[in-house]
Amino acid sequence: MTTSKPSQSPFIASFPRTRMRRDRRDPWSRRLVAETRLSVDDLIWPVFVQEGQGVATEIASMPGVKRLSIDLLTAAVKEAAGLGIPAVAIFPATPLDKKTPDGEEATNPDNLICRSVRAIKELGLDIGVVCDVALDPYTTHGQDGVIRDGLVANDETVDILCRQSIIQAQAGCDVIAPSDMMDGRIGAIRDALDAEGFQKVRILSYAAKYASAYYGPFRDAVGSKGALGKGDKKNYQMDPRNTDEALREVALDIAEGADMVMVKPGMPYLDIVQRVKETFSMPTYVYQVSGEYAMIKAAAERGWLDGERAMMEALAGFKRAGADGVLTYAAIDAAKALIKGYAY
Ligand code: PBG
Repeated sequence: MTTSKPSQSPFIASFPRTRMRRDRRDPWSRRLVAETRLSVDDLIWPVFVQEGQGVATEIASMPGVKRLSIDLLTAAVKEAAGLGIPAVAIFPATPLDKKTPDGEEATNPDNLICRSVRAIKELGLDIGVVCDVALDPYTTHGQDGVIRDGLVANDETVDILCRQSIIQAQAGCDVIAPSDMMDGRIGAIRDALDAEGFQKVRILSYAAKYASAYYGPFRDAVGSKGALGKGDKKNYQMDPRNTDEALREVALDIAEGADMVMVKPGMPYLDIVQRVKETFSMPTYVYQVSGEYAMIKAAAERGWLDGERAMMEALAGFKRAGADGVLTYAAIDAAKALIKGYAY
């Protein structure tokens, strides 16, 4: 009947009746046929805090990102809320003299993070506060837990993480986000929160977190890099070669009570994002980590990439892969671009 090549689907006519470029011709028509939409509602902004008053310290490996003292943090959070960003995730740069081998400062109800949460919550804004749960900002060795016999001890660390979660919840944290990759921590933290009356506090699990080179600039920002030295986290964070293992990690965290799950890093792991979303249909987030951010910014500084376009394309890619939202250091700029009606 037809002489041309059979079309892919019985519903698609072949060329020349079908010309794919027709729908792409004008901006309005590209907007109309867009299959995924990145909106300000998809953004979570990670922010670094430090001690002091009126101090904003540049982070050399993360152009445009500054570590803020609490007074400047609250101003930054006001801006984020004003732009409609739903949540901020706060990370502490702990002073060296507060770091110990067992990271006791993590469970101090008056630590930098707890004071930051209280200051943000006092603003009374419609913005969620996400707190990282892990010991690396507080340990002298930069590992995410306490070391016994040369290895991060799982169960003892989980007990400390439960206490860390409780003091963060007491400070007013909305979302507890364990990033440590200890086994069984989601269930233990859920039980600990519930026992203290924090049934309403959510858990966003860093469920599939890989042992990645892309965390380098973050470790500069929180000051854990020097501490970690040549050490790595491969005995608790995941092997970059694995996929099925990520699904098992996510399945366990969901069974233990995670409300939301995360894949981290982002761009090298889009297949994981897609599989996790398809398999579990859970609220699924992806962390565009410090190294991903740094690569785009560094190339843009050299004039090798159009920084804004590269960033927006990366963020759209996370949505296309199935993520419900993205943690990105570029959240403020992305929100501004989206509000202006960013055209891809
Ligand atoms: C701490 C933590 C890390 C990141 C988030 N939480 C670093 C690590 O695991 O070493 C990385 C974030 C980034 O690179 O942007 N457990």
